[in-house]
Amino acid sequence: MGLKVLTVFGTRPEAIKMCPLVKCLEENTDITSVVCVTSQHREMLDQVLGIFHVVPEYDLGIMQQRQTINEIMIKILERLDPILQIEQPNIMLVHGDTTTGLASALAAFYRKIPVGHVEAGLRSYNRYSPFPEEINRRLISQIAEIHFAPTKENVRNLLQENIQDRLVITGNTVIDSFKYTVSPNYIFKNTFLNKLIKKEKRLIIVTAHRRESIGEALKEICSAIRTIVREHKDVVVIYPVHPNPEVREIVYPALDQQERIYLTEPLDVEEMHNLMSKSYLIMTDSGGLQEEAPYFHVPVIVLRKETERKEAVKANTAVVAGVAEKHIVEVANKLLTNDITYRRMALTENPYGDGYASERIVMELLQWHAKRKNNKLKVEGGV
Ligand code: UD1
Ligand code: UDP
Repeated sequence: MGLKVLTVFGTRPEAIKMCPLVKCLEENTDITSVVCVTSQHREMLDQVLGIFHVVPEYDLGIMQQRQTINEIMIKILERLDPILQIEQPNIMLVHGDTTTGLASALAAFYRKIPVGHVEAGLRSYNRYSPFPEEINRRLISQIAEIHFAPTKENVRNLLQENIQDRLVITGNTVIDSFKYTVSPNYIFKNTFLNKLIKKEKRLIIVTAHRRESIGEALKEICSAIRTIVREHKDVVVIYPVHPNPEVREIVYPALDQQERIYLTEPLDVEEMHNLMSKSYLIMTDSGGLQEEAPYFHVPVIVLRKETERKEAVKANTAVVAGVAEKHIVEVANKLLTNDITYRRMALTENPYGDGYASERIVMELLQWHAKRKNNKLKVEGGV
């Protein structure tokens, strides 16, 4: 009786963080690995699958333009259930805090299939920020039987909430992904990026897409970027814009055709990670970028009011600037003009692990399965 693991994910960040784990599962001869993508994202998901050469067994194909959270939830519950019935995995793995993660975990629970939660235990303790991710993640914690927490702080959060079953500190699998994406002599496929890094300018990468930022907050963020570029002539900004039309409707009118600001389509993850390694500063509301940047020794300005990546702030690799133009500009000015402040942030140790999170997860899964098999034999043998 080998171990059958069904891994489900659907958005870009989940794919970047789950593909290294899928690779590790596939390499282990005691494990049968089955992958199902929900395709909550389409183009951005396919970009990642291509880079990691992961070919899913199932694709729920749910994405729609301007989809609502309810639509995502309903479609996944409907379309995943028949696959669970066919595959009957020993365990299903979900990731993080997306609606794909929550809907899949719930579908598995309704079939009494155990759930393992990768990237468990992050908390902002503000139910509407990130929205709906904070509550998605807390609900998955209620369903999961194994919690793979990236850091000690994440385990502490779970213990405080009385979640005491299998908790494992693994590091974040995003660090594992760099083995597949980053190389010191990387040549960008996009020739514009090769030119950009050769300019004698400091490169700032910006990304902002969160639901709770769309509206006034994103407008303020865009104004801040214009001000920073105007005040620092040696700065260039690249902003790969999320395909969400509600994001684009704000970002393009505010920043397109501005001097030293380059808006692009989402970069594939190989281009993105290598570009990050060459950047001076990152300004973002993304969760993943907060975890990746310290590996490259690049300070992060978090374009949000708070973060659940608290170890990055504690380690001083990230600073939370809020969403008001004035504060964002103040924080950026300090980092762009004060070398000591900059170096203190840039030279800090990455708090997200050593790049072996996937191996730890696989080991834990095998131990968990062996224990369950033993217990089953004891029951059947009447011990
Ligand atoms: C989702 C996650 C968020 C994560 C983000 C990563 C939830 C509730 N939110 O938010 O936690 O940070 O993904 O990017 O799960 N679109 C495309 N093509 C794509 C992807 C998106 O056109 O490949 C457009 C579609 O119009 C879609 C919209 O973007 O309706 C929003 O996508 P959705 O997954 O609903 O929300 P995100 O904001 O991406
Ligand atoms: N990313 C990418 N191309 C881009 C922007 C981001 O490959 O143009 C990667 C980034 O390096 C990180 C992940 O996408 O690994 C973050 O995804 P996103 O910001 O969509 O989601 P979040 O992290 O906020 O959940």
